[in-house]
Amino acid sequence: MIRLSRIILSLSLVLALAAPAVAGHDAKKEAKRAIVVAAFGTTVPEAAPAIAKMVERVRAAYPGVPVTLCYTAAMIRAKLAKDGKHVPSPAEALAALPDAGVTDVALMSLQTIPGSEYHDLVRTAAAFSRMPKGLSHVAVSAPLLFEQDDFPAVSKALLSAAPKDRKPGEAVVFVGHGTEHPANMAYPALQYSLWRIDPNAFVATVEGTPSFDDAIADLKAKGIKKAWLIPLFAVAGDHARNDMAGKEKDSLASSLAAAGIEARPVLSGTAEHDAVAAVWLDHLKTTFDALPGK
Ligand code: CO
Repeated sequence: MIRLSRIILSLSLVLALAAPAVAGHDAKKEAKRAIVVAAFGTTVPEAAPAIAKMVERVRAAYPGVPVTLCYTAAMIRAKLAKDGKHVPSPAEALAALPDAGVTDVALMSLQTIPGSEYHDLVRTAAAFSRMPKGLSHVAVSAPLLFEQDDFPAVSKALLSAAPKDRKPGEAVVFVGHGTEHPANMAYPALQYSLWRIDPNAFVATVEGTPSFDDAIADLKAKGIKKAWLIPLFAVAGDHARNDMAGKEKDSLASSLAAAGIEARPVLSGTAEHDAVAAVWLDHLKTTFDALPGK
């Protein structure tokens, strides 16, 4: 008898475990979409409005859709937190959404190339997709320079944003970050694309290829006497202000001056220019429209 009751007990335990959840607990949530804009972030107060402007553009394009901003750079978030400014990480921004009824998210990559920052976003998105009682889908939109068609489109957009004061024979140099990540190849690819439209448009990167020296050699070879330096960063932050335009002798502006080329730095980020922003917004639309929610 004892044996039998033990069997019945363990059998009922197994049945209880296999039984469906109480009706209602597993009821399918109604799909609701949201957008999270993921910028690298900046501690330069003059650079932050460029990011805010992008968020405004997204809000205007998606009325009624919740839009939040996050910064991917932990160092920048920590620095801002010391000044009492809280900007969430991508994970923090995503984690807050299920309680607001959101099921599907377009995570907008405000990166320039598909480097490590972008791939970290992809991994974060994967981790937050299909999480129990969490979000169903998190999809990352393409950064500025992602696929073949982006290169001529971005080249055109960048050149349309070049200073109106530029005279024939003067160069524009678009100064980007550069990286050891294989995605650095986007920069020489952009150079190729720019040259097909404007032979006096150049790309230089702080940490990758083409290097400052590469660009200076090209400018000299073409006999350029004056160059406008334009950030190829979403915002004109620390790298644009110091590495590109700074007074230090290894900045691009100083190196050009030493090579006998007049440098005219422009301190505005690519996210500030409507034509460039349009490419990012186009990438977001592709991702947002593919989300299953309404
Ligand atoms: Co950097």
